[in-house]
Amino acid sequence: MSTVKIGETLKINLSGKDFLSLKDVSKEEILYLLQEAAAMKNDKIQNIFKGKTLAMIFEKSSTRTRVSFEAGMAQLGGNALFLSSKDMQLGRGETIADTAKVLSGYVDAIMIRTFEHEKVEELAKHAAIPVINGLTDMFHPCQALADLLTIQEIKGGFNGLKAAYIGDGNNVAHSLLIGCAKVGCDITVASPEGYEPDQDVVKLAKGYAEETGAQVSITNDPVSAVKDADVIYSDVFTSMGQEAETEERLNNFAPYQVNSTLVSHAKPDYIFLHCLPAHRGEEVTADIIDGPNSAVFQQAENRLHVQKALLKALLS
Ligand code: CP
Ligand code: NVA
Repeated sequence: MSTVKIGETLKINLSGKDFLSLKDVSKEEILYLLQEAAAMKNDKIQNIFKGKTLAMIFEKSSTRTRVSFEAGMAQLGGNALFLSSKDMQLGRGETIADTAKVLSGYVDAIMIRTFEHEKVEELAKHAAIPVINGLTDMFHPCQALADLLTIQEIKGGFNGLKAAYIGDGNNVAHSLLIGCAKVGCDITVASPEGYEPDQDVVKLAKGYAEETGAQVSITNDPVSAVKDADVIYSDVFTSMGQEAETEERLNNFAPYQVNSTLVSHAKPDYIFLHCLPAHRGEEVTADIIDGPNSAVFQQAENRLHVQKALLKALLS
């Protein structure tokens, strides 16, 4: 098992660092954050952030990311500021670099949700304080931490487990690929032709997997991906920013719906995960997402706990 044994203390130092993707953290650091998150789940209120502020810049919609970061900061005794980019000067052409430098003088960390991953990197380059990626077109690392915590809670560890991600090979799939590879969980991504994960990310994940003994596979066949799977993961067919492609995507992704026929190939005690928001009848049927194998609301709640652990590690 790659989980931390009871009584074992992992000592790592993430203080002052950025969290832009799971590339930024080692296996030990991921396990440390999961251990901290589990502890904070039992000990919700800690007054460690008195006077500290998190700025949250959103260029895309959000329910979970916004509320979990905001509630998390409040539970730790600090504040969170919701900043919609369209109400900021950023939305009128002020540069990312200037925004980073100005915010660094006011707040203690910045969380940003945007389109191009390069924007987050640019923000981190010019900010004197930790920057957290709250989703880009390329990565969703906070989501992957919550996914891993949920798998660990339900399955007791990672080694020997098979995860299958069915759908678009973009942000959520990329972070899951890296996260699973780093902690030693087998991961197969099944996407339609033309929607496979980024080749550089796959190469990276395969490199991490060599160290943990995990298997990383990419396929166009959802049935072979879910065969004997312990975890089946789904995401929307049309991500934020791709709305113009909705119809085309609905057609191309139709065979990638997670439904009772597909999950019949998985282990009987498989768990169903989805980052949410979900579209019942598109990427997943209601009987699966609302059924007994679904852990999507535990997974959504875990966003709060992993992000609190992350904030504590970066800001302490
Ligand atoms: N899963 C997730 O990031 O949800 P939101 O888009 O609601 O933040
Ligand atoms: N892939 C989805 C994830 C939402 C949390 C999107 O980018 O819209």
